[in-house]
Amino acid sequence: MDQERFFILFPPLFLVLLVLDYVQPSLAKESRAKKFQRQHMDPNTSTITASYCNEMMKRRNMTVGRCKLVNTFIHEPLHKVRAICFQENVRCKNGQSNCHQSSSKMRITDCRLKKGSKYPKCDYQTQQLQKSIIVACECVQYETVHFDGSV
Ligand SMILES: *[C@@H]1O[C@H](CO)[C@@H](O)[C@H](O)[C@H]1NC(C)=O
Ligand SMILES: *[C@@H]1O[C@H](CO)[C@@H](O)[C@H](O)[C@H]1NC(C)=O
Repeated sequence: MDQERFFILFPPLFLVLLVLDYVQPSLAKESRAKKFQRQHMDPNTSTITASYCNEMMKRRNMTVGRCKLVNTFIHEPLHKVRAICFQENVRCKNGQSNCHQSSSKMRITDCRLKKGSKYPKCDYQTQQLQKSIIVACECVQYETVHFDGSV
């Protein structure tokens, strides 16, 4: 290939590579806040059936490769959950100090893998509760990033 043709072909290729480079990290890595929402937020569901956990754990990709043992879904609007970041500061189970406990009780559903359930048949017990919840927050954007428990 002569030099002139090389430089004519090169610029478009260079642009394509830059675009791919720019797009790829967001596809590959889910932010902690987005992961929290995928795993724990279900604001619009009000009627919970016995098969809720089996369906939701699958739909939210928590039965990929293995069955996640326990998981809690929160049936409150995201702004109410984010507001917990300004409520009582408590110590997280892992010893970190960025956990907060909700001042009011929240509508939640606990999903727990049934004994004897074997991957890939992830069979969950569904339990609806009204409890105060504890979440971890990251300071910069006051985003909830981790579900620590309910009390
Ligand atoms: C949940 O409801 C809100 C308000 O009614 C609506 O704006 C939002 O799109 C709904 N979300 C989903 C995932 O259906
Ligand atoms: C679950 O994973 C599939 C395949 O990677 C993806 O297309 C889908 O958007 C994911 N669902 C959620 C709720 O993240």
